[in-house]
Amino acid sequence: MSLDIKRPISNKTKKKTGFIVNMQQLNHNNRGGNNLFIVFFRHYYRWILWFFLSLYFFTSYFAGDQSTTITTTSLISNHKTSLSLPSHALIESSAIVKPAHTSISSGMKIYVYDLPARFNADWVMSSDRCASHLFAAEVAIHRALLSDSNVRTLDPEEADFFFVPVYVSCNFSTANGFPSLSHARSLISSAVDFISESYPFWNRTRGSDHVFVASHDFGACFHAMEDMAIEAGIPEFMKKSIILQTFGVNYKHPCQEAEHVVIPPYIPPESVQRATNKAPANRRRDIWAFFRGKMEVNPKNISGRYYSKGVRTAILKKYGGRRRFHLNRHRFAGYREEILRSVFCLCPLGWAPWSPRLVESAVLGCVPIVIADGIQLPFSETVRWPEISLTVAEKDVRNLRKILEHVTATNLSTIQRNLREPAFKRALLYNVPMTEGDATWHILDALSRKLDRSYRRSRVLSQ
Ligand SMILES: *[C@@H]1O[C@H](CO)[C@@H](O)[C@H](O)[C@H]1NC(C)=O
Ligand SMILES: *[C@@H]1O[C@H](CO)[C@@H](O)[C@H](O)[C@H]1NC(C)=O
Ligand SMILES: *[C@@H]1O[C@H](CO)[C@@H](O)[C@H](O)[C@H]1NC(C)=O
Ligand SMILES: *[C@@H]1O[C@H](CO)[C@@H](O)[C@H](O)[C@H]1NC(C)=O
Repeated sequence: MSLDIKRPISNKTKKKTGFIVNMQQLNHNNRGGNNLFIVFFRHYYRWILWFFLSLYFFTSYFAGDQSTTITTTSLISNHKTSLSLPSHALIESSAIVKPAHTSISSGMKIYVYDLPARFNADWVMSSDRCASHLFAAEVAIHRALLSDSNVRTLDPEEADFFFVPVYVSCNFSTANGFPSLSHARSLISSAVDFISESYPFWNRTRGSDHVFVASHDFGACFHAMEDMAIEAGIPEFMKKSIILQTFGVNYKHPCQEAEHVVIPPYIPPESVQRATNKAPANRRRDIWAFFRGKMEVNPKNISGRYYSKGVRTAILKKYGGRRRFHLNRHRFAGYREEILRSVFCLCPLGWAPWSPRLVESAVLGCVPIVIADGIQLPFSETVRWPEISLTVAEKDVRNLRKILEHVTATNLSTIQRNLREPAFKRALLYNVPMTEGDATWHILDALSRKLDRSYRRSRVLSQ
């Protein structure tokens, strides 16, 4: 975020200017006489229709009327566009012109390999955590696909994509209880050996229509430390495939040098529901700025790297003990209720830029303060993060209080109102079975934009 206190820019005013400009163009064209207007109208009726529709969304949204907001949502989803988020439509009306892609309308089909239990089911059997910890998207996406009768196909011949369900994050046998990724490469490699010997589909495309989940710190580099992850790189045999990964940055990085979709980390929807049920309906957010988690007082130099690049330490040193900052270094069972009580939730980088806090805070209505330079947030094509979060540059954390005070005084209520929009929350959680607009649905939506990789479709086209 660029700290520009003198000139606060609100999207609201920006949008209004956009509409005024559009109106002037219309008026100008009208001056040329009736004929010209009819020609103009014939040419641009779609555009005009969208303009008024957008205007309708825009006004109904800012009217703040609950019932109109709901109508807007259902109206858009009935249109079966990929724009199931009303704020999406109203903030950037030009986005509506984009062709609509949904997994449903494009008839995309996915075949889910039935792998031996040692690749998946056995891991869930041996630990409950396997299906619920922050890397559990690998389990949740698999289950959601199995439960879906629309996109899933049992006939591999008619599949556009092939999903390879390997759970690599469930070896909790280490001393600190954190999953060991040491076996990830060999486990996936042996799964690929298995499918390429038992089926013809891997060999015919070298895996380019195959989909894997890599929900760890640095995606398919399978290492928690960045330098080692980079050194290891993505295994050669996975480089042609599509990887669903929580790791994403908006610059070149060896751990995203494969076709990929940035997905949210896993937070159990039940735990969100439980926390919400416990909190009183009209709760007051009495904590101003909140963070709970690993924060080293003096970060260790581990082969030239410091945890969180020292950002968490800088926050602790400057704001620890300050009245409006609720900073804690220890685990606490009531953690999610604390988020519900908070206005701003700090989401600084750890070893990797992303953290589960991004999802936890957004779904519990606490404004995520993203402090991780260059991070690529999940589903950034469809979820408009700038409307529901705030980004603070790592170098600016020492000004955090000023930045948050500025936002409190200017656009906090706008961000909070956006955050209450159910579509955002829905997009960040994985349900079984999948529901329209949830995280798996957004993954399918993203895959439907990669149908050029479908072997089946390329065959149909060339015939
Ligand atoms: C689980 O992780 C430990 C520690 O890295 C390793 O020794 C062990 O072989 C792994 N287990 C399996 C089944 O791969
Ligand atoms: C695919 O290729 C691998 C090695 O190139 C081979 O071992 C395997 O038998 C092939 N699979 C099929 C189904 O032909
Ligand atoms: C951190 O450790 C590396 C060697 O592991 C060293 O080259 C570097 O100078 C150290 N940095 C600081 C700030 O001490
Ligand atoms: C809120 O204000 C901050 C600081 O001026 C700005 O960076 C951010 O984009 C604004 N967000 C919204 C949703 O208006």
